[in-house]
Amino acid sequence: MEKSVARQTVLSLTTLPTLPSVLHAVVQCLEDPNSTAKDLKDIIINDQSIAVKVLNVANSAYYGVNQQVSDLRQAVVVLGFDVIRDICLYVSFGRFFSSCRNVEGFDLDEFWKHTIATAVSCRLIASKVNYENPERAMILGLIHDLGKVVLIHAFQAEFAMACRQAQQQSIALHIAEQEVLGFDHAEVGGWLAEKWDLPDILTVAVEYHHKADSFPPAYQSEVMLTVLSDTMSKESEFGDSGSPVVDKPNALALRALNMTLADYEAAKEELLEMRPAIEHLFQSSM
Ligand SMILES: [Fe+2]
Ligand SMILES: [Fe+2]
Repeated sequence: MEKSVARQTVLSLTTLPTLPSVLHAVVQCLEDPNSTAKDLKDIIINDQSIAVKVLNVANSAYYGVNQQVSDLRQAVVVLGFDVIRDICLYVSFGRFFSSCRNVEGFDLDEFWKHTIATAVSCRLIASKVNYENPERAMILGLIHDLGKVVLIHAFQAEFAMACRQAQQQSIALHIAEQEVLGFDHAEVGGWLAEKWDLPDILTVAVEYHHKADSFPPAYQSEVMLTVLSDTMSKESEFGDSGSPVVDKPNALALRALNMTLADYEAAKEELLEMRPAIEHLFQSSM
């Protein structure tokens, strides 16, 4: 299919899910240098279903609290604000994922885990390389593969064929998508991010996360963070992206971020240590 036609098709789809409003508010808040932790808290407490999930998690056996946690103030004490922010992101973005139908050969639950593992990896790498905004890094990981959701909505049969082809030929899923459709989920994700009016810094990272060798130089850090975190979650076998190919950590990305392989491996170890806690949050926020 002609790329410009595909882009028009995607942009004019009325059945596409919209950006979860909470996620939109959180992105704006994280990108605004004048916003405070209180602003983020205000966003979260205004969303009833997130508030309920937060209380569920705070009361779960995992946190071993003897007494019933019945309000958000107590939940902040038990869980810490970072965990609450993560629940907010998982729940709001999970709403976007839940609109997907099942596609043969593509496991949505595993894909959702891949998304969360990539988000956590991205934040871990960001803190190792002293990236200016670790929360933004988390969002980069969370949205990096959103184009797959678009493909499931708009080109389901072709996406299923690309999944099959990737498995049969042991090639990366985005390459199979290029062969079947003439474009891939990274480009499509970029189109949707643009339609959603996300900041360029996020849109570009989504669009170029499989193109570590050609991207707008102004967004080098964000593209490279996304490239490396995608690899980290795949190497850790934390979830399944749907692609049978797992690359080695990209040397260009490591160099651009001034990260040694030892630092990368250390971040991966941390991801694996955090896995039980992340899976617990994941299950509680479904
Ligand atoms: Fe991808
Ligand atoms: Fe991915």
